[in-house]
Amino acid sequence: MRLPADFDRVAALAWRRAAAVPGFMGAAEVRALLALAACALALPGEGAVVEIGSFKGRSTVGLATLARELGLPAGPCPIVSIDPHTSPSPTDPGVASFEAFTAALAAHELSGVVEAHRATSAEVARTWRRPIRLLWIDGDHTLAGARADFDLYAPFLVPGGLIAFHDTLHFFEGPIRVFVEQVLGSDRFGPAGFLHTIGWAQSRPEDGARWHAARRRLARRAARLLPLVAPPRRFSGWNRLRYKAALALVPHRIPAPAAFAAALTEPPPGAPNSP
Ligand SMILES: C[S@@+](CC[C@H](N)C(=O)[O-])C[C@H]1O[C@@H](n2cnc3c(N)ncnc32)[C@H](O)[C@@H]1O
Repeated sequence: MRLPADFDRVAALAWRRAAAVPGFMGAAEVRALLALAACALALPGEGAVVEIGSFKGRSTVGLATLARELGLPAGPCPIVSIDPHTSPSPTDPGVASFEAFTAALAAHELSGVVEAHRATSAEVARTWRRPIRLLWIDGDHTLAGARADFDLYAPFLVPGGLIAFHDTLHFFEGPIRVFVEQVLGSDRFGPAGFLHTIGWAQSRPEDGARWHAARRRLARRAARLLPLVAPPRRFSGWNRLRYKAALALVPHRIPAPAAFAAALTEPPPGAPNSP
């Protein structure tokens, strides 16, 4: 898979706009999310980019700018935002965000690119039937919340589509446990990795087993974090030191976007049936 030739220009524009919106992602993570989204947008056929958890729209503005600049894929509105904007989870920042969200999109005339659902992911899932090319999960970070988002929406990922969880390498139990157990542990997914705190994987229902060993290696390292983030553990004292030591063993450096895109095509060296 290759990134579009003008990815760097578009990503820079998308980050400039996103940076003006209050939010929880820094430049490197937004750029990594944009690289994931550019790969997903390049897939043929239909499929939405679904964002669960938009807050004031930082990542939404980035994704919508990317989609508009790269050309919209086939099908209905490509970017779907799902957020009740009422901070329903104990892991939320605790501020209503809908007015700021709509203003951020309007500032760059992006409202027409985004299908906004002012509802929880569970409410939208009751009628959701559409294919998904990128599932970006950044909503309720509790274990029950992250698990529900995965269970309700991952079945709609198209082959080759991408799933990404924000804050897998942060002090929340939900994203990392679901990523390790349900994504890295499943042969329905192929290449996978961490980009800073983002855990990502490609849906490969036909040949995901070719990445089995690579995913297991990653899962073994990341699994050391699981007991350290399980409530009632806290990010302080001795537990914090142990968390940092375990984190240092999990590869999560963000590579050049082009190298990352290439990893979506080729199985790791030595994998069974490598070309
Ligand atoms: C960390 S913020 C998202 C940050 C955003 N992606 C950004 O770039 O700034 C988490 C958001 O998830 C939303 N949220 C919490 N539970 C949710 C649920 N069950 N369904 C959808 N959104 C949810 C909250 O309202 C909050 O705005």
